[in-house]
Amino acid sequence: MNWDRTYHITTFGCQMNEHDSETIAGMLSEMGFTESLERDRADVVIINTCSVRENADKRFFGTLGQLKHLKKENPDFTVCVCGCMMQQQHIIDSIKTKYPWVDIIFGTHNIHQFPQLLSSVLTEKEKIVNVWEDGGEIVEGLPAKRLYKHKSFVNIMYGCNNFCTYCIVPYTRGRERSRKPEDILDEVKRLVADGVREVTLLGQNVNSYQGDGQTDFADLIYRLNEVEGLERIRFMTSHPKDLSDKLIQAYVDCGKLCDYIHLPVQSGSSRVLKRMNRRYTRESYLQLIQKLKKAVPGITISTDIIVGFPGETEEDFQETLDLVRQVEYDSAFTFLYSIRKGTPAEKYEDQIPENVKHQRFNRLVELVNSISAKKNAAYVGKIEKVLVEGPSKTSSQTYTGRTEGFKLINFPAGPELTGKLVDVEVTEGKTFSLEGRIAKL
Ligand code: 5AD
Ligand code: SF4
Repeated sequence: MNWDRTYHITTFGCQMNEHDSETIAGMLSEMGFTESLERDRADVVIINTCSVRENADKRFFGTLGQLKHLKKENPDFTVCVCGCMMQQQHIIDSIKTKYPWVDIIFGTHNIHQFPQLLSSVLTEKEKIVNVWEDGGEIVEGLPAKRLYKHKSFVNIMYGCNNFCTYCIVPYTRGRERSRKPEDILDEVKRLVADGVREVTLLGQNVNSYQGDGQTDFADLIYRLNEVEGLERIRFMTSHPKDLSDKLIQAYVDCGKLCDYIHLPVQSGSSRVLKRMNRRYTRESYLQLIQKLKKAVPGITISTDIIVGFPGETEEDFQETLDLVRQVEYDSAFTFLYSIRKGTPAEKYEDQIPENVKHQRFNRLVELVNSISAKKNAAYVGKIEKVLVEGPSKTSSQTYTGRTEGFKLINFPAGPELTGKLVDVEVTEGKTFSLEGRIAKL
């Protein structure tokens, strides 16, 4: 059946969720739906949720509350919710009791069933809750409506086995499952044929990738590096505990692998890292960074840091500040520790008072930003290869793109450059981005 209706997707959370939303959009397009840019005008609204921190939970429930009046005005208006939050029974229970206008609840493991669930809700006017507890076989061949024409996310694995004590992901995304290397290569070749020049390989812990028992993550990079027409390879996220020498060597050998790594440290204190179950120490992390910087001169490095994990003392926090100074991250995502129901750290008794957390958070952000500004200022005068993404949100004459090191750069250009790799001279380094001008065509 071809549904002549519109949809709107609101996505919270990480790249994995963004990519899931692209798949949902692809399936809806195949069903004959068209995208509505305004949520309030769409016939079907999908909210793809994140549960990594409490803030995301709150924003979701706020959004859900806003949809109630639309349902009142138009009983055919259909509300679907999915994503990580739906993998938690207490969330499903609260939706059923407090937000009865929701029509479909599905989870992270059965996205492929969405067209079937939606068709039955639209024809039978029933409500459906269908959440799988864990992932079955990986479903290949799902369509995707890409956010960008020239760059794309590619899932290489799903789930996480690490069980960091603060983290909900192993419970919402299940155990690790890797896609077959052939399936990944086929997808990348198809994307390249469709104009994609840069792929970002996605997984909660990409370096645990175990394709077919013979292809590990570094092998996969070597194979992708051979794909003709592909220009850039990135990946997210790798865990410091199993970042191999072989992968570091891949940076040296594979010209298409961008000299950039996102390597979450979470804390600079070995004592806190142990309680987080991160399975590396401050010293081994710093050694890894040294190795990377030596093998790949100029590599840009970003990280995730949690402030105020239970039991974190001022000394522990000072160690985090000191590590940030030593590594000199190009950028860092900083998070206030947020208690997640069902994780081991929820039970830790030495939770840190909110005011202490906030005070440490502000100190960390100030340090991180000053380092970012300094590092970006050092780019002035350099020529960077930039994949042009398109006009910026604020002006049609200003174009944006990313450098190989994943820095956002703005420069005057025209539409003919979209999707091209161009040389841009950096004219200014700001805290969160660079400014530049086209160096040569
Ligand atoms: N509280 C705060 N930050 C968290 N993260 C994951 N779980 C929590 C939590 N409970 C952060 C980590 C991770 C990033 C995606 O989110 O830093 O790397
Ligand atoms: Fe969460 Fe740790 Fe897995 Fe990352 S590695 S998803 S922080 S459990």
